[in-house]
Amino acid sequence: MALLRSVVVGCGAYLPENVVTNAALAERGIETSDEWIVQRTGIRQRHIAGPDETTSVLGTRAAQAALDEAGLSPADIDLVLCATSTPDHTFPSTATQIQAALGIEGGFAFDLQAVCAGFVYAVATADRFLSTGGAKRALVIGAETFSRLLDWEDRTTCVLFGDGAGAIVLEARENDASDRGVLTSCLRSDGRHRAKLYVDGGPGSTGTTGKLRMEGREVFRFAVGSVTDVIEEAFRASGTTADDLTWFVPHQANRRIIEASADKLGIAREKVVLTVDRHGNTSAASIPLALAAARRDGRIQQGDLVMIEAIGGGFTWGAALIRW
Ligand SMILES: CC(C)(COP(=O)(O)OP(=O)(O)OC[C@H]1O[C@@H](n2cnc3c(N)ncnc32)[C@H](O)[C@@H]1OP(=O)(O)O)[C@@H](O)C(=O)NCCC(=O)NCCS
Repeated sequence: MALLRSVVVGCGAYLPENVVTNAALAERGIETSDEWIVQRTGIRQRHIAGPDETTSVLGTRAAQAALDEAGLSPADIDLVLCATSTPDHTFPSTATQIQAALGIEGGFAFDLQAVCAGFVYAVATADRFLSTGGAKRALVIGAETFSRLLDWEDRTTCVLFGDGAGAIVLEARENDASDRGVLTSCLRSDGRHRAKLYVDGGPGSTGTTGKLRMEGREVFRFAVGSVTDVIEEAFRASGTTADDLTWFVPHQANRRIIEASADKLGIAREKVVLTVDRHGNTSAASIPLALAAARRDGRIQQGDLVMIEAIGGGFTWGAALIRW
């Protein structure tokens, strides 16, 4: 049997209209400054969802944009996979809400929860279904409304996050000379780090949603070492090197983490796609938002070699290498 590859055939994103600058946060009484936030994180602004913009609303708009780029209709999709830590409801899944909003009646849909690494986990998961014949076309979505998990009294966390959604369409195709598709993925987790980045509530514990808590320095320290390990493994598994990469599209949490990781791996700075300045940290949405930005401005082209990587609460982390 011919080898099946999961090929990216569409990519899209959606951001809420409401843009909140660092200065606006300071004006609202948060004891912070544009200078502090930019210097420590590279973030200048973030988008914040309005009351009617739930995660499924953002995810549906991003998914529709990805379908439009692919020239496909919702009926062509038989797997909807949504990476999110901010579902509309505890259940049913946000993926099924997106499935219904798009008018998809067949196939199957589910959510995947790996916090900021969610999109990398979702790409790896969808790839397993597509490459083994379990589905033909997948909408892989990262969608978040992290603003609703924030403690706006805690300046050490509330300035870092934003809302948004991005999506790609993956299609199972027989591998050919173009070598397109998901070439490899590498996932890791280590639950012993739970207390460094978590939400202090949930349906099975407090019965409330809870608020995000983080030991920023500890996360920073762990992030650079762990992501470089999985990226090196992805290079090894695919027989490629940093020089072969066309684009490096990391999770957008902090400019300093991204640049330190790129430098450690020998990835040239001009290959790094950065959107953290405009979007803040949108958790599972950050990579597909960055992919869509780099598609829109003409940087990512068919045939390009693109490395995605992320780390999130748990900790969870991973990388995937895609020939676009
Ligand atoms: C959060 C982060 C930006 C903080 O930067 P840092 O250099 O570690 O800063 P510290 O936490 O040591 O705080 C330094 C000082 O700034 C202050 N500070 C914290 N948040 C502030 C804010 N928003 N505005 C102004 N000052 C702030 C602190 O209170 C502290 O003051 P002190 O020295 O008087 O005690 C950084 O640790 C980080 O980016 N970590 C990774 C976070 C991340 O990426 N998480 C998501 C992973 S998916």
